[in-house]
Amino acid sequence: MVGVGPRKPPSRKGSMADLPKDLLAEIKSLEEAFTIDTAKLKAITKHFVSELEKGLSVEGGSIPMNPTWVMDFPDGHETGTYLALDMGGTNLRVCEITLTNNKSEFDIVQSKYRMPEELKTGDSDELWEYIADCLQQFVETQQSEKPTQGKIPLGFTFSYPATQNYIDEGILQRWTKGFDIDGVEGQNVVPMLEAALQRRGVPIVVSALINDTTGTLIASAYTDPKMKIGCIFGTGCNAAYMENCGSIPKLAHMNLPADMPMAINCEWGAFDNEHKILPRTKYDIIIDKESPRPGQQAFEKCIAGLYLGEIFRLIMVDLHDNKDVHIFEGQDIKALRKPYTLDASFLSAIEDDPFENLQETSDLFKDKLHLSCTRPELELIRRAAELIGTRAARLSACGVAAICTKKNLQPCHVGADGSVFNKYPHFKARGAQALREILDWPAKSNSAAEDPIEVLAAEDGSGVGAALIAALTHKRFSKGNIAGILHPENFK
Ligand code: BGC
Repeated sequence: MVGVGPRKPPSRKGSMADLPKDLLAEIKSLEEAFTIDTAKLKAITKHFVSELEKGLSVEGGSIPMNPTWVMDFPDGHETGTYLALDMGGTNLRVCEITLTNNKSEFDIVQSKYRMPEELKTGDSDELWEYIADCLQQFVETQQSEKPTQGKIPLGFTFSYPATQNYIDEGILQRWTKGFDIDGVEGQNVVPMLEAALQRRGVPIVVSALINDTTGTLIASAYTDPKMKIGCIFGTGCNAAYMENCGSIPKLAHMNLPADMPMAINCEWGAFDNEHKILPRTKYDIIIDKESPRPGQQAFEKCIAGLYLGEIFRLIMVDLHDNKDVHIFEGQDIKALRKPYTLDASFLSAIEDDPFENLQETSDLFKDKLHLSCTRPELELIRRAAELIGTRAARLSACGVAAICTKKNLQPCHVGADGSVFNKYPHFKARGAQALREILDWPAKSNSAAEDPIEVLAAEDGSGVGAALIAALTHKRFSKGNIAGILHPENFK
């Protein structure tokens, strides 16, 4: 048998040679549009460093660089039981986390709820009622045997850009990740959730509002003190790191000690909103234009899981409609025309196809899109997926390199979480390679050697991280060290 055995990803140079010329030309033009060479990676990183600075300045810039009032790393000796709510881009999760007496150990009980698609563009009341319902269900089943005195403290992981004047406040700057719910932007989301809970008589008080990246940073540092940055590469993408208050000019009016640590939620998805440096393809321009928030999250729209499948779909439609090659000729591409019909897992499956004849990719197109693909079309599909996935991983490395350069963090570990980081084939290796190019590291002497900066799988930031932050807040509060910590109404 020829051509049906398993094969090694990702290079398919050999299989490309036999393709028809017009198809090869299309592949070449996609390669030109999506490939980011070392010099460009370095230029993006340099600009990134200055944008991080700008975000911390009084004038501000595109990257919000939000102070979070998370002001300590855990020492591993935190204890207690906390409730955490994780409102991510795709799921809702409620957890009860017990930080045990054993250093850096914890127990977790959790329930996941699907975030109904219609809620993301629905009504604000419906959103909070749904979340309060989930919390109520969890509390009633988990806590029925535990008599509660007073209100249960909750760490609320709200993974959207939010201004925090206090740790238990979050004024939504803007929705991201395709959310578009009226009446929430510009508002503090904490009272909205608490009001819905109160209507149900659920005895919960939000003690800290947390970004998933800050949670990831803190949870990762709990088990590995070398962790200096928390990143999410999932439906959205972002990072948090620990800054010194003296390097945050926009907080100067608070007269905080210069060496006091402050976790910064960068919201780096907004990098290059002014389109100065990222090489944008015509597909990126369409994604932005058709999104609920055009002009926002320029960096995120090239990297995050929400958009990877959509970039791919736009390429396919373009190659069918507008190009000489006319892929899927004579077939009805109705299913492919539906925006956001393909998610990042579709691209993952293409890149993961182990067969020389791309059989799994062919089956995927049949099942999901009702399209039959010729062998040359399958080669083009595979290459397009590789290009999109590689660009995402290489761009993500620019953000990591920028924070490490700004803070002079080499050597360090970076904790990363999210579906793209955990599940997208070769994302980690491609990101690591880009870091080596950007920071001019010599080739590794052996595969077991560590790079000066290693991006590693993080601990559960939105659950354990949220609980730790609630514990750290409680510790600061009980020590009377309350600068910027809790909203004045909560000083009781
Ligand atoms: C949000 C961030 C979040 C990231 C990852 C972005 O869209 O703005 O707050 O950290 O997604 O979930």
